[in-house]
Amino acid sequence: MKIVKFYEKLLNEIEADVEIIIVVAKNFDQRFVDEYHDILQKIGFSGEQDETVLLPEHNKLFVGAESISSSDIRSASASAVRALLGTSYKIAKMATYLNHPKCTAVLRAQVEGLLLGGYKFEKYKSKKSDKGLHKIRISLEEYNGFELDIPAVQRTVEKAIKSAEAVNFVRDIVNTAPDDCYPETLASIANSLCKDSKLHCKVLGVKEMEKENMNALLAVGRASRHEPKLIHLSYRPENPKAVVSIVGKGLTYDSGGLSLKPSDFMVTMKADKSGGSAVLGILKAVYSLNLPIEVHGFIGAVENMIGGDAYKPDDVLVAKNGKTIEVRNTDAEGRLVLADVLCYAQEQVKADYLFDLATLTGACVVGLGNYTIGVMGYNNEPVSQVLYASNTLSGEMAASLPFNRYLKKTLKSEIADICNISNTRYGGAITAGMFLGEFIDEHHKDKWAHLDIAGPAFVEHTWGENPHGASGAGVRTIVRLLEKLARGDSHGSS
Ligand code: BES
Ligand code: ZN
Ligand code: ZN
Repeated sequence: MKIVKFYEKLLNEIEADVEIIIVVAKNFDQRFVDEYHDILQKIGFSGEQDETVLLPEHNKLFVGAESISSSDIRSASASAVRALLGTSYKIAKMATYLNHPKCTAVLRAQVEGLLLGGYKFEKYKSKKSDKGLHKIRISLEEYNGFELDIPAVQRTVEKAIKSAEAVNFVRDIVNTAPDDCYPETLASIANSLCKDSKLHCKVLGVKEMEKENMNALLAVGRASRHEPKLIHLSYRPENPKAVVSIVGKGLTYDSGGLSLKPSDFMVTMKADKSGGSAVLGILKAVYSLNLPIEVHGFIGAVENMIGGDAYKPDDVLVAKNGKTIEVRNTDAEGRLVLADVLCYAQEQVKADYLFDLATLTGACVVGLGNYTIGVMGYNNEPVSQVLYASNTLSGEMAASLPFNRYLKKTLKSEIADICNISNTRYGGAITAGMFLGEFIDEHHKDKWAHLDIAGPAFVEHTWGENPHGASGAGVRTIVRLLEKLARGDSHGSS
C-alpha cells in the first residue's frame, strides 16, 4: 500500500471498493457508525482498540480506537489496512479525524498509520501477492464536524507521506538479508540518495580509515570478507537554523565474533544495521521535506564475523582519539565501531546536536521491553528533546536511562584506559551508553544523546503500526525533532 490521497469531497462522493470507519471510544451512536449499531452489536464487535470487523455485504470495515488521540488513531488506521491485506479490495476511503478544529496532528497520525501498517516486504517471495489495498482516499468530511483548513491539511498529508516513506525505505534496507546488504551496499544506497547538490556523500574505505586511526572499527570488521565503510552523508540547505550530526551503528551482521552468539540469539542480527539504516532514512526525509537544518549522517558499516583474522577477547585497541580499549567480549562490538565514528563525526562537524542511534544492548530490551527506545546522555536538553519528540509527537516510545558514577567505575580496565564490557551483569544499557560517553569531546558533551533502539528495531510480533520485521525505529522521532528545530518552537503539533 503506497498511495494515500486527500480529496476535497464528501465521503459518499468518493468512489472506493471499501470504506474504513473508526469507532472512537466505543461510541456506536456517532456519525458514520450509527446505522450499523445493531449489526455490530449482534456480531460481537466491542470497539476495543485495534479490533476490526468487516461487513462484506456493506463493504465497510470497522476498527476500534480507544480515543481520538494521535497514537490511538495511528494504530487503528494501521490495523484497518492490515485487516484488508488478505482481501481483494483495492481502493478504500475514509473520513478525517481531528480532535481540535485547527490542529491536524491526528490526520498526520492517520496517514502515517495507513502507510506504515500497510507495509509489506516481498523481496524474497517468488510470488508477489496482489492482495491488499493499493490506494486510500481520505475525504474532507470530518468525524467531529470541524471545518478543515485545506492548505494545512494538504501540508500535513504531505509531511506524513514523506516521513512514512522514509520509515518504509529503512524497513526495506534492514529486512534485506545480510548476504545482500553489506557495508558496500549501504554505501551505494547512500550514494544513490545524492540526486542533487543539496545531498552529498563521502565514503571511507579501510585505507582511509587507517589514516584516520579508526583502529577500533577496523578491528571489528577484520574477519569479514566485506570491507568496512564509513559513510558520511550531508545535507546542507542555505541559512540552516541548526547543525545536527547523527551517527548510526551499521552492523550489517553481528555474529558476536569470537564471543560467538548462541544460534537463537544470532537470528535477526541482520537488524543490527538498524541505526545506520535509520540515518539513511532520516537524511532522505530531511531532504524531501526540505528542512532548513544542516544534517550530517555518519554510518559505521561493518560486519562482525569469525575467522583466523578476527579480533579477540584480550586484544587492546587504540581508538581514533587515542584511548586504549581492553576487549573482553567481541560481541560488544557496536560501541567499538561507534567510538571511532563518534570521534570522526565530532572532528568533521561542530554540531549543535549530536545523536547516535544503535541496536546496542540486549540489556536495553530487558529493561524497557520491545517497544521503547532507551535515551541516554550527560545533559538534559538533547535527551529531553528526544523524549518529547518521541513520546509526544512521533508515535514512538522512549524512556530516559540516567548515567551515574558508580556504573561508570564498572568499565575500569587493569591494563588499558577502559574495558569494552562492564564487570557487572546489571545496568548494561547504561554502561554501554557511558562507554560511548568516553568518546564525546568537551564541545559536544551537552549536545549529545544516545538512542538505544535494540528493543523496537525488529518486530517479532506485529504491534501498532509495526508489522513483522524491521520497524524503522528512531526515524520518526529524529525527523519530528528536526522539524521542531526547523520551526524554532518549543511545542509542535502536526
Ligand atoms: N547487537 C547486539 C545487541 C542486541 C541484542 C540488539 C538484542 C538487538 C537485540 C550487541 O552488539 C550485543 O551483542 N551486545 C551484547 C553486549 C554484551 C556482550 C555486553 C549484549 O547485549 O548481549
Ligand atoms: Zn554484538
Ligand atoms: Zn551488535
